[in-house]
Amino acid sequence: MTMRLTIPALLLVAAAAGLTGCRGDREDAPPRQFFPDLDDQLKWKPQTKSDFFADGRTMRQPVAGTVAFGTVGFNPTQDWAGGFASERELLLKDDKAFYEGIGADGKYLDKIPVPVTLEMVKLGQQKFNIYCSACHGYLGDGLGQTGIQWSYPLPNFHDVKYKKPDPKDPTIQIYKDGYIFHTARVGVIDAAGVQKMPGYAHALNEAEAWAVVAYFRALQASHEGTIQDVPESARPALLQSRGSVTAPAAAPTTPATPAATTPAAPTGGGK
Ligand code: HEC
Repeated sequence: MTMRLTIPALLLVAAAAGLTGCRGDREDAPPRQFFPDLDDQLKWKPQTKSDFFADGRTMRQPVAGTVAFGTVGFNPTQDWAGGFASERELLLKDDKAFYEGIGADGKYLDKIPVPVTLEMVKLGQQKFNIYCSACHGYLGDGLGQTGIQWSYPLPNFHDVKYKKPDPKDPTIQIYKDGYIFHTARVGVIDAAGVQKMPGYAHALNEAEAWAVVAYFRALQASHEGTIQDVPESARPALLQSRGSVTAPAAAPTTPATPAATTPAAPTGGGK
């Protein structure tokens, strides 16, 4: 059915193309120019002669004192150079650990390769809630609104396999920070090459993906902690917020879902 429709359509297109001819076709006759002003602009090509400039060249010399990019070591603490220094790193991406989550041994990094700050965890929380929670749930339990509709149960990030090496198979790397980073950016592709989870590299740059990993660890830690881990001054507010969530007064028929609280920042790479 589709074949019968497409073949005449293709013939029509081919006939039309034959009548008009296109730029780039092999033809001895000069091409038809419908808007010649855009084809034939006055311009100078690099490395050619020019009568306009006194030195006879089309290309200008760099301003005196210009330093080629990357030929001097920038001091990132100098305000004018700092931006360029980080831009250079971003362009080169030659730090495999930071940009790919892979260590010198070729394996996924055990830990986040940068110091984890509270600010970073909060950024990770924001990004996780935007990009991951729909499937994995705000708590990382796999019970997001899309996650529960999935054709199979989504993983629960509080499973021990996402925290510690498997004693039976030390080659499994899914507990590593580098693997979580990689998954956030590239997604999950199974052995047959099928994309099971989409990657989010278009939405999360490397620093943001590490922030998501930091929050992933904070979520895990928050499930293992007790009220004793919370600073004493913060306990009453936390208990009260939990109390208001579990109190059946507001909506007795719908089971209340506790809102994701901001867990304390892990000190290192998590765990
Ligand atoms: C559109 C739904 C969807 C979104 C959004 C999503 N994931 Fe997933 N994720 C999945 C599915 C499905 C799997 C299970 C894949 C499989 O193994 O079949 C999965 C698995 C994972 C795993 C476990 C991988 C493993 O090998 O066990 C991690 C870690 C993970 N996702 C992290 C993330 C992070 C971080 C984000 C946000 C940046 C995210 N996911 C966003 C669908 C999603």
